[in-house]
Amino acid sequence: MRKTYTKFLILAIASSLCLVIFYSQLKDVELTQRDLARNPLVTTATPRKPTTVVISTIKKKAKSVMLVKLPPLTISEDFRKDIPKNGAFWNRKLHSLLRHFDSADNETRKDPHIKFHCQPESFELLQTNIQDIQSYPPLYGDFLRGMECRNPPLLHDQPGKCASDQIFLLFAIKSIPKHFERRQAVRETWGREGLYKNGLQVRTVFLLGRSSVDDPTLDKMLSFEAQQFQDLLVWDFHDTFYNLTLKEHVFFKWMMDHCPQVSFVFKGDDDVFANTQAILNHLKSLEPEQASSLYTGQIISDATPLRDPKIKYYVPQSFYEGPYPAYAGGGGFLFSGNLLPSLYHVSFYIPFYPIDDVYNGMCFKAIGITPTKHDGFKTFDIREQDRENPCVHKDLLLVHQRNPQQTMRLWRNMHSSMLTC
Ligand SMILES: *[C@@H]1O[C@H](CO)[C@@H](O)[C@H](O)[C@H]1NC(C)=O
Ligand SMILES: *[C@@H]1O[C@H](CO)[C@@H](O)[C@H](O)[C@H]1NC(C)=O
Repeated sequence: MRKTYTKFLILAIASSLCLVIFYSQLKDVELTQRDLARNPLVTTATPRKPTTVVISTIKKKAKSVMLVKLPPLTISEDFRKDIPKNGAFWNRKLHSLLRHFDSADNETRKDPHIKFHCQPESFELLQTNIQDIQSYPPLYGDFLRGMECRNPPLLHDQPGKCASDQIFLLFAIKSIPKHFERRQAVRETWGREGLYKNGLQVRTVFLLGRSSVDDPTLDKMLSFEAQQFQDLLVWDFHDTFYNLTLKEHVFFKWMMDHCPQVSFVFKGDDDVFANTQAILNHLKSLEPEQASSLYTGQIISDATPLRDPKIKYYVPQSFYEGPYPAYAGGGGFLFSGNLLPSLYHVSFYIPFYPIDDVYNGMCFKAIGITPTKHDGFKTFDIREQDRENPCVHKDLLLVHQRNPQQTMRLWRNMHSSMLTC
């Protein structure tokens, strides 16, 4: 009798001990999950899990603010004729989207988002569409799999950027996370925000994705920078060369949401030197008709895809075949803010392309805008002996490329009271 009692007692204690341990562990799990959700950019010793938790919470938020009003859209005949119908993957994809557009009812046209399904395409599926995909550079695989993913969450926003004043010019500068020094040089020189001559308001945003998993984590420094300078837009996608058309698309969308009234946009790289006053003078001098359909810079006409696999701009024959519409060099160009809604809308019917300035040229052509050349844009730089000469730069609008020190020096010299040109 006594033995059974002791046995029972030991069993009871053991099982309640088990229960206690079980519940305390459950609680631990809940706590970490909640903590992570509260502080999305905190990185912990186990980086895998936090990322998934964070992305799902931010995604939910992004969905609720997605819809923007889109204007009626016409896709130009010139563009349709310019891009040949043939067996190349991109050409087929484009013409299939154009057929969708032509047969869509009014409701679908107003909300083209629904056509895209971000389910990264499998290798097998791609292979049935592109026979020689094995010969593509490895990074092309990432690009192809991401072609349908168009709605990455925004990690750092600047919703008040254009809120208070009528903005005349917005600098939208493509940068990548680790280019802290370049961004600071731009802020201190040609990208300085504020009121310029003749009451013209200028604002600046830097467009960024995320650094690669092989890079050291820069999230905290970016958070600080975003808060300190209020000019960073950071999206949750991998910031690579082939993802630049995705950056273009999300930038158009951001502009629709937050800066729809801006008069002009400068889109460019973080290693150019822009002459802000000369740009403002030029924009101010435009006739109303020119001003409302502006797309200007250094124009590259009659270009075709480069077929040498060793270069950055390589495009395989089975991916795209045809000429490139005339486009402005991506180092820096200007366009009218009132084209933004049409550009955003049309970018739903033009598949992403590995080269962003070519993609831009296609979007402009599709909405019926032809680029005009301006000789002040030197995206292939100027003569070596003129590169430090402030007088030579007085009449130029842009030169590519300058490092932060050259940018600081040139800017200082151009604005020196001792300068006589
Ligand atoms: C679509 O919109 C146009 C004008 O915006 C209108 O003329 C046309 O009747 C509409 N079609 C349908 C099917 O609602
Ligand atoms: C573009 O970003 C997405 C999302 O981060 C990523 O999955 C994809 O690999 C990137 N594409 C390229 C070509 O780097």
